[in-house]
Amino acid sequence: MLGAETSGADGHDRPKVMVVEDDPDIRKILELFLTEKAFRVKSAESASQALEMLAEEPIDLILSDVRMPNMSGLDLLRHLKERDPEIQLVLMSAYSSVKDAVEAIRLGAADYVEKPIDFRRLERVLQTVLEKRHLQHRTRILEQRLQGCVTFEGMVARSQQMLSVFAFIERLARYPTTALVTGESGTGKELVARALHELSPLRDRQLVICNCTTLAPTLLESELFGHTRGAFTGADRDRKGLFEAAHGGTIFLDEIGELPVGVQVKLLRVLENREIKRIGSPDPIRIDLRVVAATNRDLAAMVQAGTFRDDLYYRLNVGAIFLSPLRSRIDDIEPLTHHFVRIFREKLGRNVTGPAPSVLDIFARYPWPGNVRELANVIERAMVVSKGSTILPENLPPHLFETRPVTVGDAPLMPDLSLEAAEREQILRALQASGGKRVEAARRLGLSRRTLYRKLDRYGIA
Ligand SMILES: Nc1ncnc2c1ncn2[C@@H]1O[C@H](COP(=O)(O)OP(=O)(O)OP(=O)(O)O)[C@@H](O)[C@H]1O
Ligand SMILES: [Mg+2]
Repeated sequence: MLGAETSGADGHDRPKVMVVEDDPDIRKILELFLTEKAFRVKSAESASQALEMLAEEPIDLILSDVRMPNMSGLDLLRHLKERDPEIQLVLMSAYSSVKDAVEAIRLGAADYVEKPIDFRRLERVLQTVLEKRHLQHRTRILEQRLQGCVTFEGMVARSQQMLSVFAFIERLARYPTTALVTGESGTGKELVARALHELSPLRDRQLVICNCTTLAPTLLESELFGHTRGAFTGADRDRKGLFEAAHGGTIFLDEIGELPVGVQVKLLRVLENREIKRIGSPDPIRIDLRVVAATNRDLAAMVQAGTFRDDLYYRLNVGAIFLSPLRSRIDDIEPLTHHFVRIFREKLGRNVTGPAPSVLDIFARYPWPGNVRELANVIERAMVVSKGSTILPENLPPHLFETRPVTVGDAPLMPDLSLEAAEREQILRALQASGGKRVEAARRLGLSRRTLYRKLDRYGIA
């Protein structure tokens, strides 16, 4: 099935097809037919409208008429292939013109169907095109797996799930679509957000990071939208918000599940109208940016509980990326372990070359409630205490040996406290290693100074 790389909620796995057709009746019939065949359908009445809509989000397959006023289906094909070589387009024509058909295939059309449309043939054509695309995608992933592991924008993986995620990130990054990264704590959401920015046409512009948990609702609002002088007590001068600061680039809204309902409404307005108002000002300010959001909460459940707006959720979910917990992609553990050994060898100046095979067995059985972050912590600690050049079982913390039933893909297996404890410990260690210098500690932790300060506050570290 195609599109399996996006998260499964709300029929998100169904392929998206766009119909480009100037005749309203045929357009309607095609829409009905495709919807019934379980495709998600978008339609455009001209090639130029299609180009506009296609710049907004990735579409799996385009079904376009050849003869249309202004821009023909062939010209549309030419434009699209330049922008996204992987795009699949099937052309339809009432004039059975061999010349058009040949030209279409030469330009990279996936297939060509004649009008009046034989719907059974159309269905077969669409299935074949999507299957072929899916196979190409699978082949690429298999090739990469044969090489042992893949490195992608600072991320390391070998599992099928992560390789699909990488392929999807690569594709999604080219579009200005809002992205939503979900997954348990420590699964790599922030790395994904950074990759989306780095691989986008906006890579030379700024990436602004906002953590939605750490501020009181009113402060968060002025942090995001800015305010004018006198807007509230203490607002002694005009201030630019993070949205304005991110104009032209990307804003990363981390922990979006914590966004207060009042701010959710305002965010929706930003996404829909591409404008903001500073608090205390009636004047809209136009902003153009890419929004990437992340959360470890189950937003669909929050929508049902009424704590997250459904319209905002659907808007965010267009570019959904789900990161599986580490325990359900154990193929990644070995390459990740070697990756972290390399990193900490450098950082700690310890000549440790790798784990003993028995250590990898223990890692494969442990459920990793703190996911990749926890794995990194365990490896760093083991390298600090190990005496020889190999990480041995006795270098591991005792709780890794406790056997507990591994449940896949549901609630964390330990109280939340232990995740926080791990983070707190990591921060303390970074501070210690940096001789108490916070800027240096933030750099080591890969956090912004602001985020570190907030976390110090949260964990009561003086
Ligand atoms: N695939 C990966 N390859 C290499 N490092 C990874 C990978 N995934 C995560 N990490 C590392 O694990 C740590 C946690 O990742 P990250 O901060 O992106 O997680 P997160 O999902 O944002 O967590 P949280 O929900 O707690 O904010 C980071 O140090 C990151 O560099
Ligand atoms: Mg994070």
